Amino acid sequence: MDNRDWLDELLSKTDLVQVVSRYVSLTKKGNNYWACCPFHHEKTPSFSVTPGKQLYYCYGCHEGGNAITFIKKIESVESGEAIRILAEAAHMTVPEFKTDKKQADIKKKKERLSALMRDAALHYHENLKSEKAKIAQMYIKERQISSMVTKFGIGFSLGRTEMLEFLNSKGYSYVEMKEAGIAEQSADSYYDVFMNRLIIPIINPYGSVIGFGGRILDKDTKFAKYRNSTQTILFDKSRVLFALNLVKKTKQREGINSIIITEGYMDTISLFKAGFENVVASMGTSLTLEQAKQLKNYCNKVYISYDGDGAGQKATLRGLDILESVGLSVRVVKLPEGKDPDDVIKSDGKEGYEKLLESAVTLTTFKIDSLASAYDLSDPDGKSKFAVEAIKIIKKLDNPVEQEEYLKHIHKLTDYSMNVLLKQAEMSSNEEVIITEEKQEQRSSDSLLAAEQFVLASLINEMPYADFSEDIFPLLSCDEARVAYNHALEKYKNHYTLQSLYNRVDQPYQEYVKGLINYNFVDSDDKKKFDECIYLIKRRSLMAQKERLAAQYQETKDYEILAQLNRLEKQLKQMKKNGGYYG
Ligand code: UTP
Ligand code: MN
Repeated sequence: MDNRDWLDELLSKTDLVQVVSRYVSLTKKGNNYWACCPFHHEKTPSFSVTPGKQLYYCYGCHEGGNAITFIKKIESVESGEAIRILAEAAHMTVPEFKTDKKQADIKKKKERLSALMRDAALHYHENLKSEKAKIAQMYIKERQISSMVTKFGIGFSLGRTEMLEFLNSKGYSYVEMKEAGIAEQSADSYYDVFMNRLIIPIINPYGSVIGFGGRILDKDTKFAKYRNSTQTILFDKSRVLFALNLVKKTKQREGINSIIITEGYMDTISLFKAGFENVVASMGTSLTLEQAKQLKNYCNKVYISYDGDGAGQKATLRGLDILESVGLSVRVVKLPEGKDPDDVIKSDGKEGYEKLLESAVTLTTFKIDSLASAYDLSDPDGKSKFAVEAIKIIKKLDNPVEQEEYLKHIHKLTDYSMNVLLKQAEMSSNEEVIITEEKQEQRSSDSLLAAEQFVLASLINEMPYADFSEDIFPLLSCDEARVAYNHALEKYKNHYTLQSLYNRVDQPYQEYVKGLINYNFVDSDDKKKFDECIYLIKRRSLMAQKERLAAQYQETKDYEILAQLNRLEKQLKQMKKNGGYYG
């Protein structure tokens, strides 16, 4: 069956009124159903569902769409996951395409290991009540987190093999325990890698336990304070944010405007206890693009609240640009030297931390202040060096009003007159700007090729989100890509298998096509990514066309070319308005 037909069937079997009712209570008035909008705060209902059209619309915040967009928005998930959720409710199975055999196997394995992890988490949690868990019970009391034990599912490992024996009695093999990251082998015996540690489960936004953090309780020990799950097919540290599952619940319950990012488990737990229910932890590493994108699905603003020490600050600087690059507005919470959020809550309470949030600074201010602390501003030499470096930071901003604002800040710190600072800003070499622009060029040509490959691989493999509705053939970068595109189209029209497509490919192009057939798709691949890649391909091609026309116009001064240029310019602007962030 065609993907389109399948989606149509899913939507026809889905009753939007029922779907929405799972989240808000609807009242029938006339032809429509009404409720207070789940996407913004209001006291009188302006959110409507029209059963005849299977569409919803809010007259207050203008959110609207069908069942898929509703689930995407309310569950903060991508299309693929929204479709899966709806399919489950409609008792339909998302079609496994022939080529997805490998993916189907991975899915089965994931389900098995998820069940194992869930059983393990429940058992660790149960263990906490045991006579033998005195040391963990004491620790929890000491840190005053007893009231958070259930919410976070905190547990305890009763030793070298207790967990493994339990899992074994539930029918899991030792190899599976190892694959789940719980067991490791030494000599010829397996042991629990979290033995004798306090267990903090790491749960993804869909509610699956995917990993554990284990805190050591023994105070004098040579072992690391925390032991985290190693990379498994469920757990990839670079994609995970601790407690995002709880933040999601907060969002569904009352909405959130921002998310606070801390470094550690204990900071997050402590802030939750104090009443901040919009906190996640990055678990001690620099933030990744993947994490930033996930956060952007939940809100538009983040507070970075890392430890007030050297290491925390450096990690902070590395993570910030990534957050801004996905369009998040970033505030940096300045913690007193040597303190972490948990310490602040303990010493100054909820109000104390709230004050710190209120006085959080922008990214640029934070960068300038960090720089200032690295120089001796009472020394003329230090002061001038600082000013020169600080101005380089400001030059990277593209808004002159903003630039002026921060020049004032430097003026306050150094006492140099605004005039002198402005002159320095004009002088400050453009060298670095040029270098970064070159790098950007390089990066964008890499990302263009990556986008092209992703689109072609999706088309060839007939991924559920991929279609031929946009004619990108004339925009493709090379012969290989054009050949691959044509074969993909033939396969789609004639319902070939992948094998018979491959057999039709001429020898010189086989390597390229093979790469597309075996493309490494990831779970988060979806229509949005597909559309963004198409957007990128189109945009790049228009840009190249623009450069060609501009050169021609320079030579000929032909008004017809100028008119063409203007049309292109408009088209590009329009695209920017509608387009994603890949461009
Ligand atoms: P911290 O040392 O600040 O831990 O490391 P914490 O959460 O504040 O813990 P307490 O209050 O001392 O109990 C921050 C984070 O870095 C990771 C953990 O995720 C931790 O929460 N980390 C730290 C490790 O993975 N391994 C370590 O050995 C230490
Ligand atoms: Mn800490």
